[in-house]
Amino acid sequence: MATADGPSTLPAVPGLEPAFHIGPHPLRPLRAGMPVLALAPLAGVGNWVFRLICARLGARLVGVEFINCRIVHQAGIRVQRLLDFSDADVYRRTGISLLAAQIYGNDIGLMAEGARELERRGAQIVDINFGCSVPQIVRKGSCAAFLRDLPRFYEAVAATVEAVRVPVMVKTRIGWDDDSINVVEIVERAQAAGARAIAIHARTVMQKYDGEARWEWLKSACEAAEVPVFGNGDVRCYDDALAMVERTGCDAVMIGRAAMANPWIFSARRGANLAERIELAADQVRWMAQYKGEHVGVKETRKHLTLYFRDLDRHSPERLRLLTTESLGELLDFLESWRRALDGDPERDLALSASEANRLAWSGTG
Ligand SMILES: Cc1cc2nc3c(=O)[nH]c(=O)nc-3n(C[C@H](O)[C@H](O)[C@H](O)COP(=O)(O)O)c2cc1C
Repeated sequence: MATADGPSTLPAVPGLEPAFHIGPHPLRPLRAGMPVLALAPLAGVGNWVFRLICARLGARLVGVEFINCRIVHQAGIRVQRLLDFSDADVYRRTGISLLAAQIYGNDIGLMAEGARELERRGAQIVDINFGCSVPQIVRKGSCAAFLRDLPRFYEAVAATVEAVRVPVMVKTRIGWDDDSINVVEIVERAQAAGARAIAIHARTVMQKYDGEARWEWLKSACEAAEVPVFGNGDVRCYDDALAMVERTGCDAVMIGRAAMANPWIFSARRGANLAERIELAADQVRWMAQYKGEHVGVKETRKHLTLYFRDLDRHSPERLRLLTTESLGELLDFLESWRRALDGDPERDLALSASEANRLAWSGTG
C-alpha cells in the first residue's frame, strides 16, 4: 500500500474556479493562467509511483496504463500490480488529482465488466482505449480497431457508461488513416453514448508516431465537442502545451513522453536543478522498492533516472553510481551525499527533443 505522499509537501489546491468538470469532478489548473495538464496513460511507466510524482508536481488527472478486460479479474502479481491504485486515496484526501484507469478489449460485455472492476478498485474515472495502434492488438479487434466501426464504438462506450457510476472518458486518435479521418464523428458518437471527456492523440492509427501530430484536427474536434477535450500529441515542453491550447482551443493538455523526461512540466517548468532531481529520484526509487520490491524497484527506476540526469556526462562517476547501484540503501546514501556536496546548482532544461521523443515512442502504442 502506498503511504506515498511522504514527507514532501503536497501542493495545495488553490481556490481557483474549475476550468471544467468531468462528471462531478472539478478540474482546476495548478495556477491561474495555466491550462489543466494531465499525465497520459503510459504502459510500463504509469504505475502509482510515477502517477503520484506527476500529481504532486501538478498533473490534475493521471492515466493508468491500459488493462485488458480479459485479465482484469486474474489474481496473479502482475495484474494485481497493474490494479494497484493506492495513489487514488491520496487524490481523494487532497484533491490534487484524479485517477483515470483505462480498459481495453474486443468484447464489449467484458469491457463493461472490466470497467466495473476498475471502479471497484478505486478508479475515479474509467477511460476506454480506442487509440492503441499496435498491430497484434488491433488485429484482434481491440483499441483503434473500433475507429473503423463507429456503431460498435458507440455500443462499447454506451455499455461501459451503463456499467459504472464513475464518469467514463475515451482516448482516441483522429481516425484510421489519411483517407478516413473521422475525429469529429468519433467525438459526436462518444458524447452521445455518454462519455464525459475525450482525449485525442492527434495522429491517425496508421501514422503510429510518425510525422507530426495534426493539431488542426484537434481544433475541429474541439469545435464539435460538448464535453471537455484533452489534446495530446507532441507536447515536448510547457510552451508547447500553451501553444496547443492557443491553436486548438482544447480544454486540457495530456502529456506522455515529455513527462517521462521532465515531470516538472506539470509545474509549468522546462526542467529542474540538480538538488530537485536528486530529491525526486530518492522518492521515486524508495516508492518503487515499496511497490515492486528492492531488486526490481531499483532496476526499473533506472529508465527514469537515465532521463532525469541525461545532461550528465556518460562516463561521469555520478551517472555510473546512479545506474549500477543495486542496493536501495546504498543508492539513497549516495543520492543524499551527492545532494549535500552540490555547489552552485542552476536549473537544467529537460525539454524533449524531437529525436528523443521518437526514441521513447513505444511501437505505436496509443
Ligand atoms: C511507453 C508508452 C506507453 C504508452 N501506453 C499507453 C497506454 O497504455 N494507453 C494509451 O491510451 N496510450 C498509451 N501510450 C500513448 C500515450 O498515452 C500518448 O497518447 C502518446 O505518447 C502521444 O503523446 P505524447 O506525444 O505526449 O507522448 C503510450 C505511449 C508510450 C510512449
